[in-house]
Amino acid sequence: MSGQAPVAVVTGGARRLGRHLCLRLAARGYDVVILYRRSDEAARALEQEIASTGRRARARAVDVGVEPQVAEAFAEIARAEGRVDLLVNNVGNYNPQPITRLTPAVWDATLAANLSGAYYCSFHALPLMPAHGSIINIGMAGLEGIRANVRGADYYVSKTGLLSLTRSLAVAYADRHIRVNMVSPGQLDNSVDLPPPDQIGETVPLGRAGELQDVAQAVEYLLDASYVTGANIDVAGGYRL
Ligand SMILES: NC(=O)c1ccc[n+]([C@@H]2O[C@H](COP(=O)([O-])OP(=O)(O)OC[C@H]3O[C@@H](n4cnc5c(N)ncnc54)[C@H](OP(=O)(O)O)[C@@H]3O)[C@@H](O)[C@H]2O)c1
Repeated sequence: MSGQAPVAVVTGGARRLGRHLCLRLAARGYDVVILYRRSDEAARALEQEIASTGRRARARAVDVGVEPQVAEAFAEIARAEGRVDLLVNNVGNYNPQPITRLTPAVWDATLAANLSGAYYCSFHALPLMPAHGSIINIGMAGLEGIRANVRGADYYVSKTGLLSLTRSLAVAYADRHIRVNMVSPGQLDNSVDLPPPDQIGETVPLGRAGELQDVAQAVEYLLDASYVTGANIDVAGGYRL
């Protein structure tokens, strides 16, 4: 990759929201490193799609919940791309089940991928990040004043931790002019929990599911918002207010 274009690293980048963000960031002029776990075919196709727009893309398999793998992936980024201008911690596994049926193995896997993974990627990206670099963590709506969630407690705990991590990093790295923010989707139109369209107004005041482009718009706002750090933007149509 050239040393000229800014470099964005997106975790969980091969599919769904991550894929959409990779494409939007490439359209904004970023070279993109797509970190993924199992979706080889989708990752290769995205690499090609971005390359066809004239930007560079490189897909790399890594389990973000396994620190040595993350260390190796970022060592490779240091060699290949040489910098990280933007890290998007997008991985966020949601396999809701009642807390009474949760097992330590599921708990550990969720926390490793969703929370430790974001920390490991941040830890290894920050030394490669120039001044005015940025980290954007993908959260979930309603983290402010979160209440009991009997279903999916592991997920909600991971996202609450991610908000705390966002704010801590924002303060710690402000003197390097690195901004750390969070974008928190509500019920996206690809959500496993999506109510039928005629019922969505009961939980989403704006009366529709979120689209990938709604989330990308907030991410792009944060890229431009040079005085915003430690913020968490709900992109949720009023869901969980
Ligand atoms: N969709 C929604 O309605 C919604 C609502 C609120 C918040 N969000 C948040 O938005 C973000 C994206 O959501 P999504 O539904 O697009 O995500 P998703 O489909 O559940 O996951 C995105 C990708 O994460 C990758 N991944 C999972 N575990 C990984 C690991 N340990 N290491 C590396 N990659 C891993 C997977 O890659 P492979 O396919 O390569 O295995 C997967 O394609 C998440 O943080 C989620 O919590 C989504």
